[in-house]
Amino acid sequence: MRFGDERTRPSVDLASRIAVERPATVIDLGCGPGNSTRVLRQRWPEAHVVGLDSSPEMIDAARADEPFEEWIVSGIEDWAPSAGFDVVFSNAALQWLPDHCALVERLFRAVAPGGALGFQIPSADFAAVRHLIHGIALDGPWTPRMSGPLGELTMEPPGLYYDCLSPHARSVDIWETEYFHVMDSSAAIVDWIASTGLRPFLAALESEDETRMFVSRLSEMVRQTYPPQKDGRVLFPFKRTFVVAYR
Ligand SMILES: C[S@@+](CC[C@H](N)C(=O)[O-])C[C@H]1O[C@@H](n2cnc3c(N)ncnc32)[C@H](O)[C@@H]1O
Repeated sequence: MRFGDERTRPSVDLASRIAVERPATVIDLGCGPGNSTRVLRQRWPEAHVVGLDSSPEMIDAARADEPFEEWIVSGIEDWAPSAGFDVVFSNAALQWLPDHCALVERLFRAVAPGGALGFQIPSADFAAVRHLIHGIALDGPWTPRMSGPLGELTMEPPGLYYDCLSPHARSVDIWETEYFHVMDSSAAIVDWIASTGLRPFLAALESEDETRMFVSRLSEMVRQTYPPQKDGRVLFPFKRTFVVAYR
């Protein structure tokens, strides 16, 4: 959670824009260690809030911090609630699942009348570092093993989410925000991305030598792409897409 504050901010921005005033039930899909769930608890103190994540370690960490919430270990793809939720929320998780039109239609069906589905994912062209990673993946001894990692994240253009949700929704609100995260150094950008979008690429490398080569090439390109500001810190622009659909 070294980047906890930076990463929690989009869930605050999303939750504050969901215009459902007194939901009885709220679910946080892909809740991680519970940071976004805590945001939901603050936004709607009277609601029954549930956190769901496929990682037992994440749920253990969340439960240790907030033992009185309800926590579920499950894949979002396997989640089939018996009753609708007033708010179905997901921050920075749906990009790990495929087939977004079918996915968001299915999640929207889990919204109770008068409620909302709200989610945030990185935008398709979220940051220059994504292009750097793809360039290195396509130019090395590892390239034959990179088709999986190159297709691992799914981020569709805003129009797809609109077209898939608007036939079923009262209204659909979509926006993009580019955050300029203030990082201590360009190495901190590589550290951040190593625990998210870079992970599938690192997992496909076959030796420590390959990992060292991949990471040192990336670190050098990141250093050139993200120059330091006057105070020595580095700005990391990161674009995110937000969608809220009301039933
Ligand atoms: C970047 S974290 C976001 C955590 C939290 N929502 C937040 O905003 O701090 C993404 C989370 O999605 C979870 N995740 C990824 N794929 C998932 C899936 N198919 N079903 C459920 N959770 C998933 C991961 O385990 C991880 O905890």
